[in-house]
Amino acid sequence: MAIRDLPKVEAGVRFSSPAQIIMKFLNSLEKKSLAGEICLLRMDLDIENTDLRGLNADSHRQLPFRLEAALPTIKFLLERKTKVVILSHRGRPRSGIYADRRRKEFSLKPFVKILASLLKRPIYFIDFKNLTRLSLVRLKNVVRDSAPGAIFLLENLRFLKGEMENDKKFAKQLASLGSFYVNDAFGVSHRANASVEAITHFLPSYAGLHMEKELEKLNGLTKKAKRPFVIILGGSKTHDKLPLIKNLWNKADYFLLGGGVANTFFAAQGLLIGDSLRGDSAELRGILRGITRKELSRKVILPVDVAIKDRKILDIGPKTVKRFGEIIKKAKTIIWNGPMGLIEDPRFAKGSAEVARFISQSRAFSVVGGGETTSLITNYQLPITKRNIFLSTGGGAMLEYLAGKKLPGIEVLKKSTVD
Ligand code: 3PG
Repeated sequence: MAIRDLPKVEAGVRFSSPAQIIMKFLNSLEKKSLAGEICLLRMDLDIENTDLRGLNADSHRQLPFRLEAALPTIKFLLERKTKVVILSHRGRPRSGIYADRRRKEFSLKPFVKILASLLKRPIYFIDFKNLTRLSLVRLKNVVRDSAPGAIFLLENLRFLKGEMENDKKFAKQLASLGSFYVNDAFGVSHRANASVEAITHFLPSYAGLHMEKELEKLNGLTKKAKRPFVIILGGSKTHDKLPLIKNLWNKADYFLLGGGVANTFFAAQGLLIGDSLRGDSAELRGILRGITRKELSRKVILPVDVAIKDRKILDIGPKTVKRFGEIIKKAKTIIWNGPMGLIEDPRFAKGSAEVARFISQSRAFSVVGGGETTSLITNYQLPITKRNIFLSTGGGAMLEYLAGKKLPGIEVLKKSTVD
């Protein structure tokens, strides 16, 4: 086809990215009748207990961000009288160990009351030690015979063998409960888990409303990251965060580090950091291989003063805050994932609160992600509500996506051919 044969483009027409064309979105079902259909909805309810205490529709407290972001999709389904079976994980219990000693901490039971209060209808909680054929048949019958708009919540899937292993048989059993599948759990889409990846091989699969928003915003950032481009990393889960330094080394101008990420650098330099949270020094050395000392000291900005208690580094100090502030002020693009200190304790949340304040005052396009970082913003009611700041539900998922990696949970949504 010659250029002159191409259809004319009308001004103001919005074009979708290739991912949008291939992927199926829940939005596309807007006009379809979904009454009585059974949706298996993958949510990311990996939210700390401290953020859930005393929470209900009347508590006038800001909802944890992950929960708030999940509500539009559930409401979309309920308005269409769809039956919803919520699938989620919480925390990292030992894979498939139903009797994990931290079982209570990882249970999804607290969400029964919270979701019932928010959605103004009962939530049926389903807890089983394993998916036997009998329990599955019973459960299928219960869901099938329930009223349109009924909501079921399955206990933490990571208690069951097969979830973390992305086991096809397990995924098929799960899939047999519903008539279609929606992934609205961007935060766990970097995990090839059965309820994220394998399940899409057995059901028509769609990206939920929040997932759609995440992809649109993050695609925007990767395409046009203006410089100076500043990446701020802290908190734990260093194994998820350290590779981002390598992957975005050439794109970013500065990496401002705090929390366990900074401590990993200190430990790798041979500094004594007592019992402070840290990642694997060997992994860090591998990641930094090929980067010269000069380049490193130009781009990687480590804390120059810290708050210490009980042999642990628990926050960045005022000089570091000032230095970070100077850099953030000049930034045009910012990614922030992971707090600078132990934010559960207000004495050590100051560094993170200051970073949030700098970002809120900046004109940069900023993406802030990770469970702890977003809960810091909601718990302290930090002024991160401006239009140029996007809160992502993803922690590790956001980092991997921004680094250009293909996330298993998203790739399968693009490829899903089951109708
Ligand atoms: C998160 O909190 O980043 C997601 O829920 C994924 O959790 P995971 O890192 O334990 O897989």
